[in-house]
Amino acid sequence: MLIRPAVPDDHSRVFAYRSDVSVGHWIARWTTDPEEHREQFSAPERLGRTLVYELGGRVVGDLMLAQSDAWSQVEVAAGAAGAEVELGWTIDPAYAGRGLATEAVRELMAACFDDLGVHRVTAHCFAENRASWRLMERVGMRRESEGRRDALHRSRGWLDSYGYAILAEEWRAR
Ligand SMILES: CC(C)(COP(=O)(O)OP(=O)(O)OC[C@H]1O[C@@H](n2cnc3c(N)ncnc32)[C@H](O)[C@@H]1OP(=O)(O)O)[C@@H](O)C(=O)NCCC(=O)NCCS
Repeated sequence: MLIRPAVPDDHSRVFAYRSDVSVGHWIARWTTDPEEHREQFSAPERLGRTLVYELGGRVVGDLMLAQSDAWSQVEVAAGAAGAEVELGWTIDPAYAGRGLATEAVRELMAACFDDLGVHRVTAHCFAENRASWRLMERVGMRRESEGRRDALHRSRGWLDSYGYAILAEEWRAR
């Protein structure tokens, strides 16, 4: 498996699986219009936090890595700068169920802790998105929050959500 930063030319391959209804049901932003997807995918703020993973030279999924400051008291703000990363993930349904997304997320988490040196990695999902929170648990994340009807789904209305996290020391102890 190869994991690399996304480039604008990845948009059509990513659109091929992101436009699938089963994928679109859970992701934050969904369109079935290829041109709209190209524009969204290529926007610098989105492209800059997107990676893709390839198997045998074919893009099979994408990942989000969004680094931010942790909350802190003002006097120690420098220590919290860039201390957290939120991750997100998607896989082409044709490649699901084999552990590929898990492998990609494990590699990305290793990069977050070992290369970026972050303190904490987080992820969020709708509580009904079992495949996503099972992935979080497979990679060692803890369920930290259970939100009650706090996340608005485009067709289902207000749904429960889960928040997961793992600390650098928990990652190293695994
Ligand atoms: C979330 C998502 C990436 C999970 O995909 P996935 O295929 O379940 O994840 P993996 O590729 O890691 O495969 C893991 C599954 O394969 C199984 N598996 C088979 N061989 C495996 C192996 N060698 N290693 C690990 N898992 C393996 C696992 O048991 C697991 O299935 P289970 O959850 O039923 O037990 C996928 O459902 C998806 O893209 N959903 C739509 C987008 C989305 O929801 N994104 C997240 C928004 S919060």
